[in-house]
Amino acid sequence: MHEQDIEKILFDAETIRRRVDEVAAEILRAYDGKDLTMVAVLTGSVPFIADLIRRLPRPLRLDCIGAASYRGGTKPTELTLTKSLQLDVANRHVLVVDDILDTGATLLRIRDIISSLGAREVKLCVLLEKEVPHAENIRADFFGFRIPPHFVVGYGLDFREQYRNLPYIATLKQSVIES
Ligand code: XMP
Repeated sequence: MHEQDIEKILFDAETIRRRVDEVAAEILRAYDGKDLTMVAVLTGSVPFIADLIRRLPRPLRLDCIGAASYRGGTKPTELTLTKSLQLDVANRHVLVVDDILDTGATLLRIRDIISSLGAREVKLCVLLEKEVPHAENIRADFFGFRIPPHFVVGYGLDFREQYRNLPYIATLKQSVIES
């Protein structure tokens, strides 16, 4: 694999598994007695939401929304919506699931889009929340881990579309980022 490109593992597979268990338990409690539509933000949230939904033994609907903000590097560019929702979310409780809350620009826009479709409530769940000032103080309602403002890969997160399949979350060597 590309393990020689990894600088440091921040969260190994077992640590992620245990934390996803806890986040799932929080979600179960929070949505007790409510309908639930989960929306995966493509592509980075795929491993996380796949693990999450299998720990939610209750009725739920699943949809995906496509958003791309990182054009092959580590610096954000303008957000492009690449796929719209298929399900009707009017009057529904929607939980948007993404890999990471960085500046918050992506989730702010997605939350606005889903609210404008008439959702009754839109909450946010991210695996990682970066300790940086977020746009308009947007915070995740559910999160896995808080991390310092480093660029990370693995468990869905990519650098130039690689490393999404790593079972852990890690930083990349500076030489790889600069290459
Ligand atoms: P914003 O800044 O809009 O960013 O909150 C959210 C999206 O940007 C990507 N992102 C990252 N991707 N490592 C990555 O692989 C990172 O450290 C990182 N920080 C932000 C990600 O796609 C996220 O949905």
